[in-house]
Amino acid sequence: MMMAIDTETRPKGHVIWLTGLSGAGKSTLSKYLHEHFSQVGVPSYQLDGDLLRRGINNDLGFTANDRAENIRRVSHIAAYMADAGLVCIVSCISPFSKNRKFARQVCADMGVGFVEVFVSAPLEVVERRDVKGLYKKARSGVIKEFTGISSPYEVPEIPEMVVETDVFNAEKCVEQIVSFLESEKII
Ligand code: PPS
Repeated sequence: MMMAIDTETRPKGHVIWLTGLSGAGKSTLSKYLHEHFSQVGVPSYQLDGDLLRRGINNDLGFTANDRAENIRRVSHIAAYMADAGLVCIVSCISPFSKNRKFARQVCADMGVGFVEVFVSAPLEVVERRDVKGLYKKARSGVIKEFTGISSPYEVPEIPEMVVETDVFNAEKCVEQIVSFLESEKII
């Protein structure tokens, strides 16, 4: 006999929202979190800003309006995924508080959890790392409106968590996030 799925009582997922400067380590932490979740049998999915901008968001640039639209779309997609029961790991710079607040509200309206994690590293550190060479281009004016250089990053005021990637390595930061999620009974 087939059991019907009760769509009203099935467990909902969560959105883990990683915000921080380019090069702070958001994508790396997302990848490690996803790997951890796979190992412990928690279904998860990664939504990475840089990748989404090659597909669904390839019509958007980096003006404040385009970033807002980017975050609006990502918020809804993440909330749908969490509604379907996944832990959705978002890694977007999401530099503006009001856009992150919007994402939080979309998740609240959908009845799914929202955990904002500030992936913190000082500008001078990420600029020194300059993994993609973007800071150099931003300093020379080749890239306009670059976060931290010519476009603001508003530091989260009350994120659920802060991980300092200039102090701890990625494994340790993931450990910190996982312990927080466990202590909050999120996973
Ligand atoms: S945002 O601000 O949340 O809309 O940005 P996001 O969707 O996360 O995309 C950030 C990635 O785009 C690349 N890139 C830039 N970032 C910031 N400012 C400017 N002007 C810019 N131009 C290109 C960059 O590779 C970002 O990826 P990450 O992984 O953060 O380095």
